[in-house]
Amino acid sequence: MTPAPRIAVVGSANIDLVTFGDTFPLPGQTIFGDDFDLGFGGKGANQAAAARLCGAQVSMVARVGSDLFGPATIANFTSQGIDTTYVRALDGLASGVAPIFVEPSGQNRIIVVKGANDRLLPADVDEAAEMLKRAACIILQFEIPIETVYYTIRFARANGITCILNPAPGQPVDLEQVRQVDYLIPNETEAEAITGRPVRSVDEARAAARDLIDAGVPRVIITLGAKGALLASNGTMELLPAREVTAKDTSGAGDAFIGSFATFLGEGVPERDAVTQACLYASLSTTRVGTQKSFLARADFEAEKRVQR
Ligand code: RIB
Repeated sequence: MTPAPRIAVVGSANIDLVTFGDTFPLPGQTIFGDDFDLGFGGKGANQAAAARLCGAQVSMVARVGSDLFGPATIANFTSQGIDTTYVRALDGLASGVAPIFVEPSGQNRIIVVKGANDRLLPADVDEAAEMLKRAACIILQFEIPIETVYYTIRFARANGITCILNPAPGQPVDLEQVRQVDYLIPNETEAEAITGRPVRSVDEARAAARDLIDAGVPRVIITLGAKGALLASNGTMELLPAREVTAKDTSGAGDAFIGSFATFLGEGVPERDAVTQACLYASLSTTRVGTQKSFLARADFEAEKRVQR
């Protein structure tokens, strides 16, 4: 049996407040939504949960608030078997929250209020250094201070640890720092924010990936929702498909992709197959509501893989 890869996530934990509806209020207007769901989220926590469900040994480095969400978030990690040695609740701060709006097509819009996530500092990475050095892979996103992200990228590089950066939510980046990662995995809007190019078609995604590779990023994977994912490195560029599904809620699908991809890669699955499997894992997550709670356990995923479409 393949040993479970060790994965560390230095990132965010939020509480997701998901409203389902087909219209959004105008200024000064009150309207009714169709449905509501409360769940554990945050891009970092979601990626940790996906990796854990896929079978990795996962440690989280995160900060939560001293409100009622903080202890619940830590308990949620523990119940999934995620190591919380370096997750701390900070006095006097609110936990990160994310009001999410989901349309009938499953398309989502998310507002993140970072709260305690914004206090995860480089010194906290130093505190977790011995644990991080034992990881095969470190995963990062942009819901914590950017200085902490860049610090951790340098840490991973200095210690020979595979580093995956999901530059979400999208923002302009310092490419000198970002090109030190092993994998940069944006979606279309995040790729736009980094390259300054529109990324609304596969051809535009190819052009953005080319820019990033030319800037020195070794490997780029642009996730393209129902269209799959574009895998690019110096000399290769390939669109790998997602399975066609009826989406209910696409929130967290990118996180499902990243957590599962890191696990498959850590198990020794060849990169192209790891991307294809992660596309499937992410597609399946969209058929259920919520973020973490929409992710499949490994056994269920393996059963889905055997289904021929
Ligand atoms: O990627 C989905 C996640 O984005 C949600 O769980 C929300 O908390 C925000 O971080």
